[in-house]
Amino acid sequence: MRLGIIGLGRGFMLTLPALAAHPAVRLAGAADPRAEALEAFGRDYGARTYGDHTALLADDAIDAVYIASPHQFHAEQAIAAARAGKHVLVEKPMATSHADCLAMAESAECAGVALIVGPSHGFDAPVHHAASIIASRTLGRVRMITALNYTDFLYRPRRPEELDGAKGGGVVYSQAAHQIDVVRRLAGTAVRSVRATIGQWDPARPCEGAYNALLNFEDGATATLTYGGYGRYDSDELMGWISELGRPKDPAAYGAARRALAAIADGGEAAAKLARAFGVGGAAGIPAPAPHHEHFGFVLVSCERGDLRLMPDGVWVYSDTGRRFEALPPPVIPREAVIGEFVAAVRGERPPIHDGHWGAATVACCEAIHRSSAERREILM
Ligand SMILES: NC(=O)c1ccc[n+]([C@@H]2O[C@H](COP(=O)([O-])OP(=O)(O)OC[C@H]3O[C@@H](n4cnc5c(N)ncnc54)[C@H](O)[C@@H]3O)[C@@H](O)[C@H]2O)c1
Repeated sequence: MRLGIIGLGRGFMLTLPALAAHPAVRLAGAADPRAEALEAFGRDYGARTYGDHTALLADDAIDAVYIASPHQFHAEQAIAAARAGKHVLVEKPMATSHADCLAMAESAECAGVALIVGPSHGFDAPVHHAASIIASRTLGRVRMITALNYTDFLYRPRRPEELDGAKGGGVVYSQAAHQIDVVRRLAGTAVRSVRATIGQWDPARPCEGAYNALLNFEDGATATLTYGGYGRYDSDELMGWISELGRPKDPAAYGAARRALAAIADGGEAAAKLARAFGVGGAAGIPAPAPHHEHFGFVLVSCERGDLRLMPDGVWVYSDTGRRFEALPPPVIPREAVIGEFVAAVRGERPPIHDGHWGAATVACCEAIHRSSAERREILM
């Protein structure tokens, strides 16, 4: 698959190891407004580069695209890509409105191309393993899921629109999209209703920074989702001090993101954000793989006859007679499951889980979290 990248930022950097290592993928082109990123990409991959996505989409030597531009461009770029006959892998959130997501899914269907939404933590190996245990029915039906994640999301360097609720900024579209994907994958049925509250507590970071949500599923299961992005309590403590990206974390580095942000001079935040993107200062290269699987915080699944607790290296299974840890081999290529699902969908080998309708349903939950919080009531989906 000759893959074109749209948006060579932080998200691309995190997926690059999987893209570069996958035998079915060739990095064949890239579009980004940043000349230095294009120069590094062209040099490293011998690929064609474009300042804008329309030129990339007109290139017959591109079969598929990975859209990793800021949220607000996903819908327009995915629809244009589908119309140009390119298969689409689009970053989470799929878009910032359910209507846009449906239009994207419809464009892909009309054009007969694959559309996958990812990476998200719904693809993580421990989630896949827990979903397989649930599917085996040995523990009975899922009845209750508890998911919580406390991070420093709000104090990492951000682009202005990442802190602007009107443009999909804040934690709901960026972070709930992951957590909703995880609990939907485990619950296995559609979300029936959502009751949620959103927290916005720091006037210096004027966007939503926390939420609590109760998701009711069609079969009577429920999931509570808690997210706090204010950089104080860190729930990686509950994950063996393994970070979201599967790397060891130093508990003594308490408050590091806040301190680093405070040390940035006025007007320097955009440059600090960019420093985590591809090709800045001519640097590129592929980071060494993480030793543990990625995760999205504490997840406990209560089934009729047992509980499952997801960890970065496997899944704890708690039954009536004992508990056991089902270990998973360490990741060889992080996020390989995402690229594998995309390639298989393009080849028509197996129907994808995370297609356009999946992504649209997750964004519908994000919208419902907003509405429920604003209207202080349960939202029926
Ligand atoms: N799945 C994950 O773990 C993960 C992690 C980080 C980001 N993301 C997602 O990736 C997307 C980008 O976020 P980011 O943190 O990488 O941002 P970023 O600012 O680091 O990168 C955005 C990149 O897109 C480029 N760009 C800007 N406008 C563009 C346009 N119109 N067309 C093409 N390229 C354009 C920028 O120059 C930059 O290189 C977001 O939707 C975000 O949710 C996902």
